[in-house]
Amino acid sequence: MLSDDFLYQLKQSNRIDSVMSSYVNLHRRGRNYVCLCPFHSEKTPSCTVYTDTDSFYCFGCGAGGDVIAFIRRIENLEYIEAVKFLAERAGIPMPEDAKDNEYSRLKTKILEINRSAARFFYNSLLSKNNEKALRYLASRGLSPNTIKKYGIGYAPNNWDSLKTHLLSQGYSEEELLAAAVCTRGRNGGIYDLFRDRIMFPIIDLRGNVIAFGGRIIDGSGPKYLNSPDTPVFKKSRNLFSLNFAKGAKSERLILAEGYMDVISINQAGFENVVATLGTALTSEQARLMAQYAKEVIIAYDSDGAGQQATHRAINILGQAGINTKIIKMEGAKDPDEYIKKYGAIRFKVLLENSGGAIAFELEKCRAGIDIETETGKVEYLKRCVQVLADISSPIEREVYISKICSEQNVSKEIIKAQTEALIKKRINTEKKLETTAIFSRAQTQDKINPEAMKFLKESKAEAGLIAYLFFNPDKLDYVLSKLPPEKFVTSFNKKVYEKLANIIKNSHDFSLSSLNSEFDVDEMGKISEIIVKNKDIAISEKEADDYINVLLGHKNNNAANSDLSDEDFINLVNEIKKSQHKMKGDFYE
Ligand code: GTP
Ligand code: MN
Repeated sequence: MLSDDFLYQLKQSNRIDSVMSSYVNLHRRGRNYVCLCPFHSEKTPSCTVYTDTDSFYCFGCGAGGDVIAFIRRIENLEYIEAVKFLAERAGIPMPEDAKDNEYSRLKTKILEINRSAARFFYNSLLSKNNEKALRYLASRGLSPNTIKKYGIGYAPNNWDSLKTHLLSQGYSEEELLAAAVCTRGRNGGIYDLFRDRIMFPIIDLRGNVIAFGGRIIDGSGPKYLNSPDTPVFKKSRNLFSLNFAKGAKSERLILAEGYMDVISINQAGFENVVATLGTALTSEQARLMAQYAKEVIIAYDSDGAGQQATHRAINILGQAGINTKIIKMEGAKDPDEYIKKYGAIRFKVLLENSGGAIAFELEKCRAGIDIETETGKVEYLKRCVQVLADISSPIEREVYISKICSEQNVSKEIIKAQTEALIKKRINTEKKLETTAIFSRAQTQDKINPEAMKFLKESKAEAGLIAYLFFNPDKLDYVLSKLPPEKFVTSFNKKVYEKLANIIKNSHDFSLSSLNSEFDVDEMGKISEIIVKNKDIAISEKEADDYINVLLGHKNNNAANSDLSDEDFINLVNEIKKSQHKMKGDFYE
């Protein structure tokens, strides 16, 4: 358990607005800030940062909590790891006893296993028995230096060679499963996940081996097999070769599709290249790239699928604020093949000549139509308007409109008017969609506290009391004396009441942060919602008494009756109407 003093110091040195602003753009609104929520996708901001309670809450998706809850969610960390993360950020030493919990011990163990496995694969590659693997790599044009640099290896064609090796080093079967280098078979035994494959270790920025990708040499099965997610590896938030690319200290990153492309490009002299790990680019990966580069050059495969993926990546990178360029590769299916065919110098020319995202999208509009015919030209211009409406800078938009109009010899006014009309229409639909999402969130049942819908009056009283105690912790004894936790009706609120009471009793500096060790991130969001919704009301002692009476008056036999009573039904409808007004007031008026 972390001391109050430590938590206090941690939070003083990690103000929520300063921490959040390294992930999102905060805009001041009165005492608070608003931003586009990083946890769901939206065009109008519904995430609010409250500087007085040092917390955030998103009305769109329900994410919320203090700075620790924010880090848990955005960095996908356990509570204690998030604390560690923030301590490191602020340069505060962690208290000794908090350093090693069971989970972080397991992670350390998995990293050891991965390192040992990587060494095993590397040694296997060099073994005489496995000459075909080395010969394959040579045929792909990889130099001994490159093989060594990437630690490329070979997983023998065998069900248990790695398993036997690691067990002999003293690791347990459970640990091998946790590291996902082995999997459990139908008969209950465990066996090697990677067999007869070229192995690419995936290395994080601290030099840890966090996972593997394995390519078949010949034979059957999927061409590539990647480690599944483990406690040390999440596919969607890592990039292959970022460990080398980061050291390149370039303002630019090259984004390729696969392992072999990255390695070829790197071998050709470009250190600043990365790839996603057998999945489509995620927004987390885009944010990660944004930390290291201002510009990303997409070098995906030249086939249809590659171009489709490029289109997707342009959007995701754009949302992360990255300037995107796209190479235009002809005569080869991917960068690996291109470099082999035409050499590194011509690849450099490709990079230098890479065009902007808008040019790429406009070019794509021509696909499959004959621009010389009238219908073709109309279709082309219609598609162009769709792209033009995506350009957020008015100046840039103007430039492209002029360019297309003079190329196609059409009046600028018409294209401009069409584009602006489309922009307006899009903004309206987006607003409507987001509003609907917020409203339906308010109406549909509550996942964290499913009983709340059934016991509307009671759960509202409970929430009121929780907020009352949150803002008036000195009233705890009074409330507790009248209302023991058993009187709470919904179990989630009961748990919050109990924990809150406990923490207020035992700590002299009580805050939302103290609840982090007891609740998961979704629950933290729910608690923030209770607090945010009640924070400007200043619940009086009289109201608190009313709430207490509601709960004392609740008859338990109601619990057996699952249908809403008429009274509850009317209350529910009124409640929804009220919350709609409240949200409208908050955002759109
Ligand atoms: P080579 O054929 O060795 O040149 O591989 P490549 O790196 O050019 O791969 P390719 O263009 O076929 O695929 C791009 C990336 O998609 C690969 O690097 C893998 O990460 C992933 N990938 C390809 N095939 C599979 C597959 O069968 N399963 C999974 N999970 N990922 C794959
Ligand atoms: Mn390839």
